[in-house]
Amino acid sequence: MTAQFPVARPRRLRRTAPMRRMVSGTRLHPAELVLPMFVKEDIDRPNPIGSMPGVFQHTRDSLRKAAHEAAEAGVGGLILFGIPAVKDGRGSAADDPEGIVQRAVADLVSDVGDTMVVMTDTCLDEFTDHGHCGILTAEGEVDNDATLERYAAAAVAQARAGSQVIAPSGMMDGQVAAIRAALDGDGFEQVPILAYSAKYASAFYGPFREAAECAPQFGDRNAYQQDAAGPVGEALREVRLDLDEGADAVMVKPALAYLDILRQVRDTVDVPVAAYQVSGEYAMVEAAAANGWIDRDRVIMESLVAIRRAGADMVLTYWATEVAAKLR
Ligand code: PBG
Repeated sequence: MTAQFPVARPRRLRRTAPMRRMVSGTRLHPAELVLPMFVKEDIDRPNPIGSMPGVFQHTRDSLRKAAHEAAEAGVGGLILFGIPAVKDGRGSAADDPEGIVQRAVADLVSDVGDTMVVMTDTCLDEFTDHGHCGILTAEGEVDNDATLERYAAAAVAQARAGSQVIAPSGMMDGQVAAIRAALDGDGFEQVPILAYSAKYASAFYGPFREAAECAPQFGDRNAYQQDAAGPVGEALREVRLDLDEGADAVMVKPALAYLDILRQVRDTVDVPVAAYQVSGEYAMVEAAAANGWIDRDRVIMESLVAIRRAGADMVLTYWATEVAAKLR
């Protein structure tokens, strides 16, 4: 009897780096990366975010500089969040033509608008004094339909300032339809909507709430964002509704803990799918790396490959500039 040796040897295709490169099924490219950025009104210098080392609340000037760096690195797009100097119950700064997002977007479009896509997050939580994503009823619940009018006004203000993609993130029912109608009514029928369609009520947003100064002053977002343990079909329904309402692309958020949802969405729709590698995903890697517990650069690449492999066409990531520069 001769010894039995394997005929099938998957290791043959793994032996050398050129071999692995040739057969790799998932590639990253700078153009599919989107950088989330924060700009704060009335600050003199960029403000580092404690729980997100390397990420800043920018001044208008430092924002322009960071956007230039992203463009240089070949990053595909940026998405802007603004923190106003004054907040109130209805989030007035969100649709103020002189509001911080509107002013900063105009800067960015004139600086980098020809080389990268300048997008705006459309929500109210950064602008309300209570930190919720919409207008409140007397009972302190988020009033869906009253909020839609605010989103529509904010989206139009952003489009007027030059925003090239409107990205509603508030998880109000009917928000895409309301925004689409308002944009079309104001002559912005060419401005696309990237809908945060399947957005979960996630503890992974923790550091963002420091960055955007938008932690709810009472309660939580569980009554409007999706439940992690909710029916899986809910995400697909949200996606379908958003597409019916006119969304041009859809998003799943967060990314790593929801790769199954991402895959299902990718297999179901025929529009671009984005995934948001959120603040907590970033913070966990940075914290572990700072302790010397993981190989930071490899973990970053591996997580991005996983998100792409699960079906994302675009990835929103705070590492966009660094990764794009490395890929070049
Ligand atoms: C809401 C919004 C949030 C994030 C993006 N848009 C916060 C929330 O829903 O509480 C989170 C992004 C991140 O954690 O990186 N405007």
